[in-house]
Parts: sequence; C-alpha cells; structure tokens
Amino acid sequence: MITKDDRQEFEAHKREMALALGRDKEAFRQSLDTLVTLDRYDYAYLWSWMGLPIIQMPADIMATQEVIWANRPDVIIETGVARGGSLIFMASLLKVIGTGKVIGVDIDIRAHNREAIEAHPVAPLITLIEGSSTEVETVAQVRDAIPPGASVMVVLDSDHSREHVLAELRAYGPLVTPGQYLVVADTLLGQSEASQTPTKRSAIWYPGDEPYAALNAYLAETDRFEVDEALNGKLVLASSPGGYVRCKSV
Ligand SMILES: C[S@@+](CC[C@H](N)C(=O)[O-])C[C@H]1O[C@@H](n2cnc3c(N)ncnc32)[C@H](O)[C@@H]1O
Repeated sequence: MITKDDRQEFEAHKREMALALGRDKEAFRQSLDTLVTLDRYDYAYLWSWMGLPIIQMPADIMATQEVIWANRPDVIIETGVARGGSLIFMASLLKVIGTGKVIGVDIDIRAHNREAIEAHPVAPLITLIEGSSTEVETVAQVRDAIPPGASVMVVLDSDHSREHVLAELRAYGPLVTPGQYLVVADTLLGQSEASQTPTKRSAIWYPGDEPYAALNAYLAETDRFEVDEALNGKLVLASSPGGYVRCKSV
C-alpha cells in the first residue's frame, strides 16, 4: 500500500495548534489553577532523570529536549544544579547525539549530589563549577571551559530573584551563539497572581521580582534574541512559559 508522506503537514498542524494554545488565555488560566493545586504535592519535585532528581515539570523537560535535539549545541551551560537531574538529562541527550558537553554551576554543590553526578555514566560529559553564577570568577571559569568556536546554549535555573536573573542574563546571554537557545526557568512566577506564588520554597519570588521580569528587562536591552512563540505556546502545565528565547541567526 502506498501511503502519503504527511510529515510536513503534521508538523505544520502542530505549530498552528501550539500557537493557538499560546493565545488561549482560558487554557493558560486553567493550567495555572491546576499547577497551584499540584504544588500542594510538591509536583515539581516528584521526578527523576536516569536516577537523579530533576526539579522540573515534564512539559519543560520535553521542550528542552526538543531544543537540544534540533540545535545540537556543543556546550550547554546550566546555572542551578541542585541534585543534578537536569544536568544528567541534558548530558544524556548529548551522549546520544554523539558530541557536546554540559557545564553546571551552583553556589552549593553538596558532597552527596556531586558524588551521585560524578558516578553517573554520563559524568564524563559534565563539568561542575562551584560558585555564585554571577561572580566574575565563576563566569571566567565557565568561559574558560568553552572550546573556541563552540555553539552554546544556556539554561538559567538558580536564584530566581529579578536582580540575580538579570545579572545572569547579562553575564551568560552574550555566550549564547546564533541559532541556540537561552532558557530562563520559572518564568511562570511572573505570569501568576501573587496569591498563586509557591510558598513552600527556601525563597519566595513574587510577581515583579522573578525570572520573567528579568527576561523582559533583558529583552528590552538587546535585540539578539527572539521569543519562540510556538514552543512557549504549548508550555502549559509548565514552569517556564515564555522562557525559551532563541539567539537570532546572524
Ligand atoms: C531550582 S534549583 C535547580 C534545579 C535543577 N536545575 C534541576 O532541574 O534539577 C536551584 C539551585 O540554584 C542554586 N543557587 C542558588 N543561588 C545561586 C547562585 N547565586 N549561583 C548559583 N547557584 C545558585 C541552589 O543552590 C539550587 O541548587
């Protein structure tokens, strides 16, 4: 039987629906209400990737996977390592791709977390740097770990205050190379009501003092990035809608 190759059509439909979903304010509101309910159960903390806890929503993990697979960065920098799951996740994708490495930065890499990361089969693809992500010395160490000419993607998931994320954006945004993504985590904090802000955290970030406010301030300073409307549009039941921006090709 001859079947029609419908892949282009399928992809076009996906894009159209993702863009339409992104415009659907009621769907977004319902998703947000559900997330507020799920936070009672620490939903973002319930998952692991290949054995290590990954503090992410499944939808954000899918989006990051799409970006990495499509763009195959030589280097991925992540600020905010925590228990290592997201580093392992990104390194495992690069392992399958066959090239690339991940640099993880955290102000506090606890011995048991370091041990678990270093014992993982994808550990050879990971470089850990301990220090505050915005310290000049830390940024210099990160820069030194990037091979000349490498394509670079950045994920910011550390201290979520506006001031810190904006400082990270100014330090790490310029490292992102054309065609690659800059991902700012937890942008949902800036798209919720103050009453919906998660409070079961070591620090609490209310609307205005959070990553989305920082990203918008940064996007007003630079024209190097464009918001990926289709990818962000489908980020419901997610922490980082609006947080995926692409470095424009030169
Ligand atoms: C939300 S967790 C990261 C979760 C991780 N990306 C994951 O997906 O599993 C935030 C991390 O940021 C780190 N952090 C807080 N302030 C920081 C700073 N100034 N510089 C670097 N890391 C920081 C914390 O130690 C914590 O491990």
